[in-house]
Amino acid sequence: MKKTCFGIVGTGRISDWVLKGAVLEPRFEAAAVCSRSEDNAVDFASRHGIEKIFTDIDMMASDPSIDAIYIGTPNHTHHDLAIKCMNHGKHVLCEKPLASNSREVREMAACAKANGVVLMEAMISTLSPNFRMVQERLESLGTVRNYSGTFCQYSTKYDKLKKILAGEDPSPVPSSFNPDCSGGALMDIGIYPIYPMVTLFGRPSGIKANVLTVNVPTSRGMRPVDIQGAVVFEYGGMTASAVYSKVADSKLRTEISCENGILSLDQIHITRQVEFIPHGAPTSGRASGPSIEGITVPCDPDEYLCEFREFIDVLESGRLESCNNSLDNSLAVAGILDEIRRQAGVTFPSD
Ligand SMILES: NC(=O)c1ccc[n+]([C@@H]2O[C@H](COP(=O)([O-])OP(=O)(O)OC[C@H]3O[C@@H](n4cnc5c(N)ncnc54)[C@H](OP(=O)(O)O)[C@@H]3O)[C@@H](O)[C@H]2O)c1
Repeated sequence: MKKTCFGIVGTGRISDWVLKGAVLEPRFEAAAVCSRSEDNAVDFASRHGIEKIFTDIDMMASDPSIDAIYIGTPNHTHHDLAIKCMNHGKHVLCEKPLASNSREVREMAACAKANGVVLMEAMISTLSPNFRMVQERLESLGTVRNYSGTFCQYSTKYDKLKKILAGEDPSPVPSSFNPDCSGGALMDIGIYPIYPMVTLFGRPSGIKANVLTVNVPTSRGMRPVDIQGAVVFEYGGMTASAVYSKVADSKLRTEISCENGILSLDQIHITRQVEFIPHGAPTSGRASGPSIEGITVPCDPDEYLCEFREFIDVLESGRLESCNNSLDNSLAVAGILDEIRRQAGVTFPSD
């Protein structure tokens, strides 16, 4: 069996997490790691049994034994790193969000096309077995009337941010809350309910965002970063909304309501359990009617496996793009994120 040899960029916790899933794909091999620090590269390589280490992205990307690069670094670095790798002829699987804004995504897509390489956003939500089942099932449920997606998770980094803002912690603002790193709640977790919405229903025709921000120190002085948002999207014939937060939790499920019933997903970022609530099933205490059906399909043994399976499938098929995580979808999502940030007054240095 031919293996796809990957170079990994960045030695943070996300690279550790994804590798646990990636190694379950028999066609995957972790061949190299690139870090800004040699010590970090050595540690990471020994943890994951990786042979080659690099501290320079051009050196890793020009190594002929490497087929593809996984980028697991902060958002503001994705564009430049991916373009360097693609210009060396490497396929790129890049963490979400694909870039800081839609201009960068467009440039990356053009670079992938010019070099004839695969570029895919590492968005697991739309590649999991249960999301794919929902996508298929939707076709038989009649007209879709509402999409309601939620991902709210209180971040431990918010506790750190509060200490930094109170002058009790001299550390820099964590990348996920730092506009200099193209961070914020929308880029970090708001994208999770939005990307599947675009995969299922395409681009909305209108966006109205209600966003909470706090001012944080940046290279451009104190600037707003978003910590929570509720966004309403316009689609012909249906309504849609996304709610996300890094400062409060929520147990709300994600729902897709159709004329023939509701698909109810336990969570949208990683869907592990799905119920079908047929039209007529009790939604108040007194009604009677058809009962709720559990329609969950078996999950992968690790949630990150699906993105490597999809990426390698695309490579082996010679297609250059994933259907669910296509560059058109990534570009549409980037345009939505741009518009929500515009309404919220959140800007990044690369805008
Ligand atoms: N799919 C998911 O479930 C998931 C979950 C969390 C995060 N993410 C995504 O993963 C990415 C990384 O997020 P994170 O919170 O892990 O970030 P992070 O901890 O700030 O950085 C991750 C690693 O990137 C490298 N790095 C940091 N700053 C850099 C810079 N200025 N230039 C180049 N490399 C740099 C560092 O590795 P070295 O020291 O080795 O260079 C660091 O350990 C983001 O795009 C985020 O959206 C995805």
